[in-house]
Amino acid sequence: MQQGSASKDSTRWSSRFAYILAATGAAVGLGNIWKFPYITGENGGGAFVLVYLVCILFIGIPVMMAEVSIGKFGRHTPGKSTVEVAKASGKPAFWGFIGWMGVLSGYLILSFYVVITGWGLAYIFKAADGAFGNGTPAHIQTLFADLTANGWALVGWTSLVVLGTVLVVGKGVKAGLERAVSALMPILFLLLIILAVYAAIEGDFWAALHFMFDPDFSKLTINGVVVALGHSFFTLSLASGIMIMYGAYLPEGVSIAKSSLWIAFFDTLVALIAGMAIYPIVFEHHLAPGSGPGLIFQTLPIAFGQMPGGQLVGTLFFIMLVFAAFTSALALIESSVAWLVEKRGFSRWAAAFTAGFGIWLLSLGTIAATCGLPIAIFNTPWGQTNFFDALDYLTANILLPIGGLLLAVFTGWIANKKLIADMIDSPAVFRLWQPIIKFLAPIAILLVFLQLVGIIHL
Ligand code: TRP
Repeated sequence: MQQGSASKDSTRWSSRFAYILAATGAAVGLGNIWKFPYITGENGGGAFVLVYLVCILFIGIPVMMAEVSIGKFGRHTPGKSTVEVAKASGKPAFWGFIGWMGVLSGYLILSFYVVITGWGLAYIFKAADGAFGNGTPAHIQTLFADLTANGWALVGWTSLVVLGTVLVVGKGVKAGLERAVSALMPILFLLLIILAVYAAIEGDFWAALHFMFDPDFSKLTINGVVVALGHSFFTLSLASGIMIMYGAYLPEGVSIAKSSLWIAFFDTLVALIAGMAIYPIVFEHHLAPGSGPGLIFQTLPIAFGQMPGGQLVGTLFFIMLVFAAFTSALALIESSVAWLVEKRGFSRWAAAFTAGFGIWLLSLGTIAATCGLPIAIFNTPWGQTNFFDALDYLTANILLPIGGLLLAVFTGWIANKKLIADMIDSPAVFRLWQPIIKFLAPIAILLVFLQLVGIIHL
């Protein structure tokens, strides 16, 4: 009954461990090392972290289980898998648009993700070269401003990232993705631990611990709650097609509930350790925790320039960042590549190059925006925006929450109950999961979404 492109063994993960590693590689990325620390800083620390953990546990994990179930049943790309679930439930095929929307969101995210990964790549060489000097803030500012304004350099770094992604994904699921992730993830974990130990010794460990884990609810705003929920989606790679796609490659006999718990656990652990690798250094040097997206490119290098061994530690830090981002980029392109193979009959290599070329073209929009080229800046009824900010806003604040909401509604209300229960394969877990996906998740996401688009102000 389930005959699909992923019904063959060659397009399955070789083990439960390989699947968990690949999905963790997708989840752990810029979201953990760049975004989580700075939004924690902006939202006052401990109380925000607590809300974020609650969101991961009660909304993120159930939605992840929903996506993996769809993929495991359909054994195709996200769009087609969703169609299969709809059809098998006696529902119209148009429900497949939820899957397509995920693929589109992933593709759009990737187009700016490769540019930021390119910044990271450039920073490896800057750090190794001693370019942070002795860490004068003005000097570090100029370094960042010069890079983001230098269009040709950015095109170069971004092209390298896109090419690397294409070369790995073109090789296929096992020979490409699985091998790359198995090599990169252990190094990533090791670097992260080295950096956290260094930060604990050289930095102000206790101040960081207090900041991140001692909740002060007076610092938590409703906007902080909104950001925490949105980020739980982004960081677990939900609603962007990939968990359906990776679910399609799930070997038989792997528990969806347990593996989802592990993936979420590792993802959260990496975010928390990344925080503990960054904040002790920030506090030791009396830098501002709430400095926003520039935290790791404009604040941390100040400390790297001033610390003993900062040149080496800074280099290792940016290597770690690029590894994390690269394994996510591989995942972000996989659904479109698989789609070109499935729908258009492309060879795997042709599909990888075609999808990569599209990403490269789209990335030029983001690069033009950071360089301030007029072509990437436009006026909207809400004010001026640019290509980069518009894409970031569209994906993180609109497509991901709507996608998550639709996934919850689809698997909770539309899909056949028995079909999903069979995929989850544990009556006890299913009984726990169902009320969450039917009520808690959709209502929470709806509140967040309405808040974000400004329809309600909690
Ligand atoms: N989770 C990734 C991060 O934290 C970002 C991301 C969102 C992603 N959606 C994705 C990665 C889909 C891979 C696939 O950086």
